[in-house]
Amino acid sequence: MTMISDETVDRVRDAADIVQIIGEHVPLRRTGTDYRGPCPFHQGTHRNFSVSPKKGIYYCFVCHAGGDVFTFLQKRLGIDWPGAVRYVAEKVGIPVEEVQQRREGPDPRQHLWDLSAAVADWFRALLWDEDEGRAARDYLALRKVSREVADRFGLGFAPRDPEAMRRHFAALGYGDDQLLEAELLVTRDEGGEPRARFRNRLIFPILDAQGNTVGFGGRLLGPGEPKYLNSAESRVFSKGQLLYGLHMTKHAIRRDDRVMVVEGYFDVVRLVSAGFDWVVAPLGTALTEQQGQMLRRYARTAFLLYDSDRAGLKATFRSGDELLRHGMAVQVVTLPEGEDPDSFVERHGGAALATALGDALDVFERKVQLLERAGWFADLRRKRRALDRLLPTIRATQDPLTRDMYLTRMSEAAGVSREVLERELAATRGARPPDAAPRARPERAAARRAPVGRPAPPVERRLVWLLVHAPALRETVGEQIGPDDLTHAALGTILAALVAAGPDASATEVAATLPDDAAELFRTLSEVPPGTGFDMPREADGCIAALRAAPLRRRLQENQRAIDIASDAEKDALIRDKVRLQRELSALGAGRIKSFDSSR
Ligand code: UTP
Ligand code: MN
Repeated sequence: MTMISDETVDRVRDAADIVQIIGEHVPLRRTGTDYRGPCPFHQGTHRNFSVSPKKGIYYCFVCHAGGDVFTFLQKRLGIDWPGAVRYVAEKVGIPVEEVQQRREGPDPRQHLWDLSAAVADWFRALLWDEDEGRAARDYLALRKVSREVADRFGLGFAPRDPEAMRRHFAALGYGDDQLLEAELLVTRDEGGEPRARFRNRLIFPILDAQGNTVGFGGRLLGPGEPKYLNSAESRVFSKGQLLYGLHMTKHAIRRDDRVMVVEGYFDVVRLVSAGFDWVVAPLGTALTEQQGQMLRRYARTAFLLYDSDRAGLKATFRSGDELLRHGMAVQVVTLPEGEDPDSFVERHGGAALATALGDALDVFERKVQLLERAGWFADLRRKRRALDRLLPTIRATQDPLTRDMYLTRMSEAAGVSREVLERELAATRGARPPDAAPRARPERAAARRAPVGRPAPPVERRLVWLLVHAPALRETVGEQIGPDDLTHAALGTILAALVAAGPDASATEVAATLPDDAAELFRTLSEVPPGTGFDMPREADGCIAALRAAPLRRRLQENQRAIDIASDAEKDALIRDKVRLQRELSALGAGRIKSFDSSR
C-alpha cells in the first residue's frame, strides 16, 4: 500500500491557489476578503458559495457543502482523495513521493495506546466517583477548573497505592508485566514489589496529534518535588515529539493559521476553556526541532506566552529561534511579571488576553527592545555582545524577507552598517550558538566566579598547589595575588587560608580551617607533591604572570571584536587601546605565559 506523507499534503495545500482552482469550475467574484459564486453542488443560482483564500476553504451557505481544495476536486471531478492531492501537486509543481507503507495490520504500539487509554479512564473515574479523589477534586475547585473542562481533557487522579489498579486491570486481562511496560508500575530493584509511578497526583493524559493516549503528566496536589512528573521516555512517549493539547486544538490552529505556545498543562486547559482553542504546550522543555517542524505544518505564525522572568525569556528566545528556523513568524506576548497565561486569564479574563495578543511584539523586535532598555547599544564593547545575541536569531531566520527586515532593524538599533553585519553573518556562519559556549564576562571578579563543581582553571590550580607544597612561598605570593584574582571560588578560599596560615603551618592545620568543598579540593592538591629538582619560586612567578595576563587577554579579545564592527571614527581610540593592552601584556613576559596556559 502506498500513501502520501502528511507533510507533502500540507505543502501542496499551502501552495495551492484555491480561488484559481475552484475558479476553473465556478465563476467567482470578490466580496471583501472572500470570493463568491453559485454553488456547483446544489446547482444554486445565487452567489451563496464562498471561497476563502486565507483559510483555504470553501463553504455553501445553502447546502452546507464545505471543505478544502482537495475535497472540492474529489466531489466535483469524482476522483479519490489521493488523486485530488496529486492533481493539485502537479499544478503547483510539488513532486509527490509516495511512501511505501511497510506495516501490515495494526500499529505495534496499539496495545500500549489501548492500555494507556484504559488507565486514563480509570484515573478519571477515581477522580470523580471515589472518596479517594476528593483531595484532587478540591484542588481542581481551588484552581477554578470545572468538571466540564476537566472532562474535556480527561483529567484524573492517581492514588498512592497500586493495589486497586493492579486488581482492576488484572480483571481486564492486563498483568503486571503490561503495567510495567507502560511504566505505570515501577520496581525499584529486580524482583521488588512494584510501586505506582504516579502517586497521589492529578493526572493529565497526554495524547499524540492523532489522538492516541501515549502517556501522562501528573501534578502534586500540594507543595513538593517534582511538582510535575511525566511518563518515562519510551517508544510511545517521547517528550520532544509531543505537544500537549494538539490533538484537540490542531483544527483551530490550521483554521486560524496561528498557534499560541504556552509552558504548562494548566495554561492549555485554561486557555481552551476560555475559548482560545489554538494553543499547545511542550512538556516542560524548550521547543525541539521536531516540535517546530510539527507546528509549521499547522500554522505560519506562533505567539509565545512564556513567563516574563529570566528563565522564561531564555526559553522564549530559544523557542523563537527554533520556529524561525522552520520559516514561521514569531510573536512574543508579554504578561505582567509573575503571571502565566493560566493565572492571567483566571484573574483578568479572556478580553485581557486578547488585548495582550494584540500588543504582541515580533520576537526579534522584543530582543532588540530588551537590549536597548538595558543600554546594550550604548558603548562599542557592549554593542559587540548585543550583536552576538542578535546574530544567531538572524541566522536562524529562514524566511528571506523577514531576515532582511531583521538586518535592517539591527543595523538601525546598533548603528552598525548593513555591510558590516552581513560580513559578521557570513564570518560566523555555522559557529556554535552562543548558548552552547558561555563566554567569560570581564570586569567584576565576583561575576566571573565559576560555580561550584566547575573544573578549576589550570593556572589557578597550579599556583595554589605550589603554595600547599612550598610553605616558604606563601608570604611573597600572598603579597602579589589575592583570592579575588582567582576565578575559582574554592581555590580562592584555599589561597586565602594558606597565606593566612603562613610558612609554618602544616597541611593538616590548614585543612582544618576550610569549609567542605574547599577541604575536598585541598585534599586532592596535597596528595601529589612536586618532583625533586623543581624550581618552585620560578614556577610561582610564571603562574602569577599568567594570572595577570588573563584579564588583559580577555580585554584584548573584546577590543578586537569591537574593532570588527566599529566605524572608522570609532576605530582610532580602539586601536590605541589595543596597542596599550598589548604592551602591558608583553611586559608580563607573554611568551612564557602562552605555553603555560595550554599546559595542563
Ligand atoms: P511551571 O513550573 O511553570 O508550572 O511548569 P505551571 O505550569 O504554571 O504549573 P502550576 O500552574 O503551578 O500547576 C511548566 C511546565 O513544565 C513542566 C510541566 O509540563 C509544566 O506544565 N514541568 C514543571 C515538569 O515537567 N516538571 C516539573 O517539576 C515542573
Ligand atoms: Mn501556572
